[in-house]
Amino acid sequence: MKILLLGSGGRECAIAWKLSQSELLDKLYIAPGNAGTAQYGENLALSPVDFDAVGKAALDKGIDMLVVGNEDPLVAGIADYFKARKELSHVMVIGPSRLGAQLEGSKDFAKGFMQRHGIPTAQYLSVTAATLEQGYAFLEKQRAPYVLKADGLAAGKGVLIVPTLEQAKVELREMLGGLFGKSSATVVIEQFLKGIECSVFVVTDGKDYRLLPVAKDYKRVGEHDKGLNTGGMGSVSPVSFADEAFMAKVKARIIEPTIAGLAQEKLPYTGFIFFGLINVEGDPYVIEYNCRMGDPETEVVMPRLKSDLVALLLAAARGQLSTTTVEIDPRYAVTVMMVSGGYPQAYEKGKVITGLDKVQHSIVFHAGTKRSPEGELLTSGGRVLAVTSYGATKQEALQQSYDNVHIIDFDKKYYRRDIGFDLK
Ligand code: AMP
Ligand code: GLY
Repeated sequence: MKILLLGSGGRECAIAWKLSQSELLDKLYIAPGNAGTAQYGENLALSPVDFDAVGKAALDKGIDMLVVGNEDPLVAGIADYFKARKELSHVMVIGPSRLGAQLEGSKDFAKGFMQRHGIPTAQYLSVTAATLEQGYAFLEKQRAPYVLKADGLAAGKGVLIVPTLEQAKVELREMLGGLFGKSSATVVIEQFLKGIECSVFVVTDGKDYRLLPVAKDYKRVGEHDKGLNTGGMGSVSPVSFADEAFMAKVKARIIEPTIAGLAQEKLPYTGFIFFGLINVEGDPYVIEYNCRMGDPETEVVMPRLKSDLVALLLAAARGQLSTTTVEIDPRYAVTVMMVSGGYPQAYEKGKVITGLDKVQHSIVFHAGTKRSPEGELLTSGGRVLAVTSYGATKQEALQQSYDNVHIIDFDKKYYRRDIGFDLK
């Protein structure tokens, strides 16, 4: 089988690593990929949101399956694009239709969906410029802090958590006034939930689902979750509080009603669902849905998945997930993200990366790397490398990753030294 994987981050590097281990795979292409994905397949220099270019590559290379790593092409309707074209309609697409991708593409849609299907989530009100006064009234009924979310995609920056009512009102006005462009023409105001978060992932064929390992990511740049939000500074799997009792609630109250709701509302969905959950005194609530895997969670989820990923995705595409079983590695996996100094604000690129040849007992997934014309490995993003390790305990896995993080070097490297600090 020939597979084309879309995306260019650490998530796609981990997916490429896993796909490349399958005996069902003949050839893997990654578009656009990075220096790391090139170890597992052939990179194609094209943009995932240029559907004509993706379609042409799929035809030229004889692609059987398109695996969509990032959300932008899904929300823009790449699955529908393939389905609507006779010459591409045979390609199996792992990723939902444009309508299914609204679970991530519109927070207002996602909240309405959860409400229709009785799925636990924070109370909310969706507001536009025309209903600003109702927005103020809703804010006045909430307790601090105040949660404001841009309805549409905002590259992970569209959520504001504001300490005072006055500030919340100012921010609401600014968001509706175009702070995040069209994405914040509608704003979802939410009740603040207090608890600890985790990321739950499933593969679904629209009828059945298979659970993947649960992970927790660390979004803030500073230790003890201080400082600015980033794309993710590390992750851990399994998650100590996501025990059997908690996961039983997650399945019954969240996953199953979500899959049933998608079918009931006729929202075509083949692919991954990422449930961003918060544990409020033992009860799970949905913070957000994503229509793709998480980053950097994928860098620990894929290493713990023992089953063949190609076989699993093939079964999903054929609507035969019910015939599959998923085997999970019982060990811990952790990843520590090495980032460019200054990230998530201004940072420099093009720094030479050394020491990868000395790494032992870890898997290094590339997030933001490229090769110079001379073949040197260079940094090319804020998040540069995800250093993943296994261990019988979380501590053992972390020790292994940190040993290698100390060996790998580039100018102004930075990483958090406390990944997993809030888990047992
Ligand atoms: P998101 O970009 O949707 O992942 O949101 C960013 C972060 O904001 C989440 O990971 C949570 O930590 C936080 N957050 C979002 N919604 C809520 C809420 N209703 N209550 C508390 N924290 C929230
Ligand atoms: N790690 C969170 C995300 O991928 O959205």
